[in-house]
Amino acid sequence: MAIYFGENRFKFGVFGLNCAGGMTLSSAAERWRAEWDDIVAVAKIADQAGIEFLLPIAKWKGLGGDADMWGRSFETFTQAAALGAMTQRIGLFVTAHVSLLTAAFVAKAITTIDHVTHGRAGLNIVCGWNPDEFDMHGVTVDPDTRYARGLEWYKIYQRLLKGESFDCYGEYYTLRGLVTDPLPVQRAPPVMSAAQSGDGQTFAAQASDILFTSMHSVDQVRDTVLRQRALSARYNRSPDIYVQTQIVCKPSRKEAEDWIHYYAEEKADQEALAYFRRQKAVTLSKSTREGTSEADKAVLASVQPTERKYAGIFPGMYPLVGSPDDLVEEFRKLEAIGVAGSALVFLNYLQEMPYFLQEVIPRMERAGLRRPI
Ligand SMILES: Cc1cc2nc3c(=O)[nH]c(=O)nc-3n(C[C@H](O)[C@H](O)[C@H](O)COP(=O)(O)O)c2cc1C
Repeated sequence: MAIYFGENRFKFGVFGLNCAGGMTLSSAAERWRAEWDDIVAVAKIADQAGIEFLLPIAKWKGLGGDADMWGRSFETFTQAAALGAMTQRIGLFVTAHVSLLTAAFVAKAITTIDHVTHGRAGLNIVCGWNPDEFDMHGVTVDPDTRYARGLEWYKIYQRLLKGESFDCYGEYYTLRGLVTDPLPVQRAPPVMSAAQSGDGQTFAAQASDILFTSMHSVDQVRDTVLRQRALSARYNRSPDIYVQTQIVCKPSRKEAEDWIHYYAEEKADQEALAYFRRQKAVTLSKSTREGTSEADKAVLASVQPTERKYAGIFPGMYPLVGSPDDLVEEFRKLEAIGVAGSALVFLNYLQEMPYFLQEVIPRMERAGLRRPI
């Protein structure tokens, strides 16, 4: 049962607008460049179409290779405040690396965005993986304790937003005189956890309203949904589960297949993919390396230097390739296994999203998966 963002049975977000390359490992000339005016244009189109939220990527460095995906990126809090002031109803997530930002800072910044937007802010917590990004901040992320640290951080953040004044003597934080004022407009802005491993799922069960996770196959996501429900029940929670999907939608399936073949096969940025795998591999936790869950197996597989179809599609991003009718059928399958929604990715959001909105959204409404706005 979806908790946030209204009544639609299947909800949509737009993921990765703030970063060059978005979420696609491609050197195609048409790729997303993260020009500010284009970001604003997409945000306004999504807002008017009733898309539920915008979700940025927290990034400090690119992946190198031909296209240096993410080499150019806008900071997520300041971007959310700006886009919030230019839109009417869409939810605005920020993405925070907990190792870089104090809970007191984030409580205040989220509250600021929540007031600017009259209650549309949300927090995506990420615990981090790429050591090269954290070196520039003088911070080391320990893969075996990152989620334990994140949980302590979350509990401090949550108490601040309840209006408590307190000291904290925890395992990772010693903080005195914690307080924040004002409080957000929403009683509790939604907390998302973007994570994939078994550790990440355990964290999400205790700290999130939404688990935003990778999708490698329908079976793996079904397993994640069931596992997450059981884990969360132990903490009296029931987070919604969202996946990430790469939208490759054209009038015919053949056209869609040709398009993805071009940008994710012929123009796949293999060097950037190899760098991602190396960096991700050195920050796997012990339990992920030993893991037996489907999620941990998928994380381990994603760092192996094996050939994969559509190398330009990010590991953990599920490509939906076909006509508008094909895509609605895929979303229907996801809804049926308990997925609350998907964060959407396009090679070029401004060029491709209008067609998706025009053709897929009315079909989703006719299929009973979304309501007309
Ligand atoms: C859907 C998804 C989105 C993510 N977004 C970000 C992000 O914006 N910035 C980032 O540094 N990490 C991001 N991460 C990775 C997290 O930092 C995560 O903590 C890291 O991958 C290690 O944990 P895991 O193995 O549980 O995923 C994302 C992960 C997933 C699955």
